[in-house]
Order: sequence, then C-alpha cells, then structure tokens
Amino acid sequence: MPYQAPRGTHDILPGEIYRWQAAEQAFLRLVTQYGYREIRTPIFEDTELFVRTSGDTSEVVTKQMYSFKDKGDRDLTLKPEGTAPVMRAYLEHRLAGDGQPVRLCYVATPVFRYERPQKGRYRQHHQLGCELIGVASPEADAEIIEIAIRTYQALGIGSLQVKLNSIGRAATREAYREALLAHAQPVLKDMDPEDRARAERNPLRMLDSKDPVMIEALQNAPKVLDYLEPESKSAFDSLCSILTEAQIPFVISPEIVRGLDYYTDTVFEVHSTALGAQTALCGGGRYDGLLKALGGPPTPSVGFGMGLERALLVQESQGALPTEPRIAAFLIAADDAGRSRLRTLAAELRSSGISATYDMDGRSLKAQIKLADRIGAQYAVILGEKEIADRTATVKELSSGDQTVVEQSGLAKHLAGEPK
Ligand code: HAM
Repeated sequence: MPYQAPRGTHDILPGEIYRWQAAEQAFLRLVTQYGYREIRTPIFEDTELFVRTSGDTSEVVTKQMYSFKDKGDRDLTLKPEGTAPVMRAYLEHRLAGDGQPVRLCYVATPVFRYERPQKGRYRQHHQLGCELIGVASPEADAEIIEIAIRTYQALGIGSLQVKLNSIGRAATREAYREALLAHAQPVLKDMDPEDRARAERNPLRMLDSKDPVMIEALQNAPKVLDYLEPESKSAFDSLCSILTEAQIPFVISPEIVRGLDYYTDTVFEVHSTALGAQTALCGGGRYDGLLKALGGPPTPSVGFGMGLERALLVQESQGALPTEPRIAAFLIAADDAGRSRLRTLAAELRSSGISATYDMDGRSLKAQIKLADRIGAQYAVILGEKEIADRTATVKELSSGDQTVVEQSGLAKHLAGEPK
C-alpha cells in the first residue's frame, strides 16, 4: 500500500459512520435539553493560547502538541484540547454580552496529541464537550457531571465510574506543593534533571506520572483534599450532596488531578474497565481562572470533554450498537420500458422521504436483484412488463422474501409502512 493514514489517525468509514452520527445526534439532543448551544472553533490556534492555559509543565504542552510555523511565521498549533479555543472565542465575540450563564457545546471536535498510539489512544481523536460559563455554584459542576453520565446512558453504555476530586485554588496548591515535594524527596533526587525541574515547578504533575517508581513512592502521599480552604471544601461537600441526591454514584479519588493546568477546585473523570489501559472516557472540571489568564474578567466556569472513539469502543464491547440505516428501495427494471420509469419513480420516492437507488449499468434482472442484496436494501421494487402496464410494482422484502403488488401511486406510503 503506497499511502496509509498517518500513524495514530484513522479513517471513519461508511460502515461505521452511522455510529458516530447516532452518538453526535444523541449528544446534541441531550445537551439542547439543558440549553447548550453548539460552537465550532478552528482546527488550529495560536500556540500561546494552549501554553498559557494548559500550562508549560503539562505533558500536552511539553510533549504532545502539533506545532508549526505558517508561511507568515506565525506560531500555530493543532487543537490539543477543546476548552481554551472555546473560551478564546467566548471572549473574542463577547458571548457574555447577552448575560451569563453561557452554555456551549462542541460535537466531535478533532483533537491532536502526539502520543504513542494504542487501542483507544490516537494522535487525532474527537471530543464531545460542554462548557458552562459564568456559574460558581456547585450545581453547575453537578449539571456537567450529570450530562456526561446521561450521554453515556443515551449511547447504551453502562458500568461506569465517576472519579471525583477537588484540587483547590492557589493557596491550597502552595501548601500542598510543599507537602508533596517533601514526601517525594527520595524519588526526586534520582530523577533526570528535566523531569525533576518540572515536578518541582508543578508537583501535581507527579500524581499523573505513569512511572511505577513514582506511583509506588506516592502511594501514601498527602492528599490535596486535606489542604482545601474552607470555601473549596464547602463547595466540594455541596457537590457531593447534590450528586448523591441526583443518584449519580461517584468515588472520591485523590489521584485524579488532571493533566491540564487550568483546573481549580472540582476535577473529575469517568472511567470504564472495558478499554484495557485507556480507562478514562471523559475528563473535566472547574477552571475559574482560565478566562482571566486570557485577559478576560474572572469568570467561574466548568466543563467536560469526552473522547468519542473511546465511547464507541466501549459501546461496541457492551453490544449496544445502534441500528445501521439501510437504503429503503432498490428499484429494478425488467426491460427498457421499466428502466425509463425508474428515474421518475426514484425521484417521487425521495421527495416523500424514502431513500431509493437503482442500477445504472444495464445489469440483467438477476444481477439487479443481487446488487439490491449486496447494498443491503430493505426492499427490491420490481417493474416488469405487467407492472408497467398496470401502473403497479412488485415489492419484495429482501430479508423475508415476502412479495406484494402495490399501486405505484401508493408506493411511498407502502414503503413507509403507512396505511394506504
Ligand atoms: P482530557 O481528559 O485531556 O480533557 O480529554 C478528554 C477525553 O478525551 C479523555 O477522557 C479521553 O476520553 C479523550 N482522549 C484524550 N486523549 C486521547 C487520545 N490520545 N486518544 C483518544 N482519546 C483521547 C480535556 O481535553 C479537557 N479539555 C476537558 C474539559 C472540558 N475540561 C473542562 N472542559
């Protein structure tokens, strides 16, 4: 094969696209019920947007960005996450102009990260996401978590775990930083200087580490929840109560700190055991400082992003596939008289909302029926000599073989299953 899709990317083929469309539509239907409106941002942005918000110690910025200079010498980066672009657009277009809160969502936005590809981990993946801007109350955090869970329910996905934590604000981070660094001293001294410098600048990143030595060393590390300021603590307690009341099960998970630097207070992930190593299906949290970092006013905000590929993998492993839409009618002509009628009949069916196609290569009657089968049509609609004379059609349901003769004028209704 001379050319293949670049490593870590994949084509979404016609045989699977219906699952994407079904998931995207289910998500959009659901979030519309909560008042979210879709936004689409460019595939690339100024590199600085991501460095400033995801943080220059994050893996995303240090190792994973697809950055390039364009012909005008601008530093640009393919979107490595969806939140900063949405907030940039929110600010640029003064979306707060009509008042807050503002509820925005994105549907299958492409996200690019240079990672080692494996099942469920790609260099281009797609996210569904919601951002709720302008509400400080933990009710907003609960709404976001509820929508994430209800999205999976709408996709027929079960057996999930919501992992919840709070990482507090600046003062919490400062106090916790010291405690965590002190605890990790024995490992830090043997680390390579670059990793060590990064860990010292942002010790929360150590909790993300995949290095078994680090994981072992941090097993009994102090927990950030014990360092929360009273306001953060009370918001976290309220969120836990709201979720309990809404019957959304969760586990408090001190190891969830998220890999992006913009989070404040609430952070959460939704995990599934169905994916092997890549168990995180969805991640999100509060990011009250992000808009200010972009030069806007301080604005409490909370959101999530969910990987669509991962959701679809789990959906498949749980046997929850939606039904693949099929073409309804394959029109078949027995002779030339029938052939000239096919085009107009197909046009009539399509204008009544019934999908229809036919052979354009002069195949024999037998070969036309075979083709109807191969493309998975529901019905073969046969126009023979007699049918043309009587203005009827023989309708054959291809799965059962059942045949009925119907008036051509009532064909659309018949195929739609409506009473004549
Ligand atoms: P994230 O946790 O980095 O958060 O990504 C969200 C989800 O995208 C993950 O839970 C995972 O399902 C999927 N994902 C991430 N990387 C890959 C990959 N390489 N291959 C396949 N799927 C992947 C964010 O991006 C935040 N912007 C979420 C957010 C929105 N926070 C607040 N608002």
